[in-house]
Amino acid sequence: MARFPKNFLWGGAIAANQAEGAYNEDGRGLVQTDVTTGGNVHTPRYTTYIGKDGKPGKVPSMGHTGKIPEGAEFAILDDYHYPNHQAVDFYHRYKEDIKLFAEMGYSVFRLSISWARIFPNGDDLEPNQAGLDFYRSVFEECRKYGIEPLVSIWHFDTPLSLESRYGGWTNRKLVDFYVRYAETIFKEYKGLVKYWITFNEINNTIMFLDLFDEDLTDADYQEAYQHLHHQFLASAKAVALGHEIDANYQFGNMICGITFYPGSSDPSDILENLHKWEQNIYYCSDVQAKGRYGSYAKRLWKEHNVVLEMAEDDLEILAKGKVDMYTFSYYMSTVVTTHAVEDKVYGNFSIGAKNPYLTYSEWGWAQDPTGLQYYLEKIYDRYEIPIMIVENGLGALDTVEEDGAIHDQYRIDYHRAHINAMADAIADGVDLIAYTTWGCIDIVSAGTGEMRKRYGFIYVDMDDEGKGTLARTPKDSFYWYQKVIASNGEDVE
Ligand code: BG6
Repeated sequence: MARFPKNFLWGGAIAANQAEGAYNEDGRGLVQTDVTTGGNVHTPRYTTYIGKDGKPGKVPSMGHTGKIPEGAEFAILDDYHYPNHQAVDFYHRYKEDIKLFAEMGYSVFRLSISWARIFPNGDDLEPNQAGLDFYRSVFEECRKYGIEPLVSIWHFDTPLSLESRYGGWTNRKLVDFYVRYAETIFKEYKGLVKYWITFNEINNTIMFLDLFDEDLTDADYQEAYQHLHHQFLASAKAVALGHEIDANYQFGNMICGITFYPGSSDPSDILENLHKWEQNIYYCSDVQAKGRYGSYAKRLWKEHNVVLEMAEDDLEILAKGKVDMYTFSYYMSTVVTTHAVEDKVYGNFSIGAKNPYLTYSEWGWAQDPTGLQYYLEKIYDRYEIPIMIVENGLGALDTVEEDGAIHDQYRIDYHRAHINAMADAIADGVDLIAYTTWGCIDIVSAGTGEMRKRYGFIYVDMDDEGKGTLARTPKDSFYWYQKVIASNGEDVE
């Protein structure tokens, strides 16, 4: 029996701010990563600003949520390198890149639209035509090769102007600005796009707090839960509107999928682990896929004295905006325990104890294909809607040999193991319909801003200081994935 269904979608994924560059071209507005420096595994990325005293300053950006002091203004400063400004120049090279994706045999390509290319300030009344034209041309290029675009409406890139003038997603006004943006692109790309994702890794806002638990106050939780409530509303309104605009549109939520394991058979570890699933995974996907807050939500709010501000019809809006597919990223698992932890491990917006049964990447992320099978089976059983894995990959250092080849056997091994886990989950009854590997081409790392943390099957000649020709070279994994796709996942050797 075939391991994958006949119409299974194979492809790769990127995000606008990590790939496009051209940060100030053709009327695009700024986003947070434009004022975020490069970092590495030991040094954080920084958000830069000019303080109200006129002096330059920086704060750790902590992914995408860095807060600058009262009265300060986000600023691009002369002495820093901002890797996302140029990224890998997908903006000018998309035709070359999509041609390479087609050569690999892609049937799907996940990318995000930069809100600030369409509405530079986020709340503009009219869209920027150059931005609309750019994505039209990208989608047409995909269609030319029979590649289905899978489009994220938001991938960590709220227009900066909405952050500085409205305070970001804690302000309910952003719901309407997002819906106006969504309506514009739904109408504009009708017939060119079928699959949409409303918010990338929406659960990071809450999961991320675990990293700073000891320093946080109830106000931080209040803010995070309110921010999420507004994103849930924006997502639900966009889904309902999108279905009206085109009945063929299919919507996915997007969860940073981490498999949580209890550290021991101590009942308190088991309970704590359940609570982690509820807080970090189910809290968001229950709202987006079931259309309502889970029963445990009241406990989560009470733990931090959170009182959610809701309007009368909010729950009805959520109920009417359920997604059609469960989409998620998967890189790793982690271990939850109530006992003292000697060896803490950090990875994709999460923290946990080290798992002695697993190996770890150079950036400390656990490698756990069985965790992917576990996640798929657990999630499918809960929601029973089609599932897409829209990110999965290994961030690793690559070496370019003298003859220009890149032998990335470690990356091939990582993907082979995860594809086998997918096949096992499908055999167990999971309705998995797509797989887009992360960073089909090398792009700027979201967490560290590095180029050397590479995920791609296509190498990009660019270093952490922004030096390089930007030339594209297929790695060994490129030819391996070509074979996997051509055999619909049968030949993974
Ligand atoms: C996910 C994000 O968290 O993980 C991507 O959706 C990100 O934007 C990816 O790039 C890998 O993380 P990193 O930090 O290695 O780039």
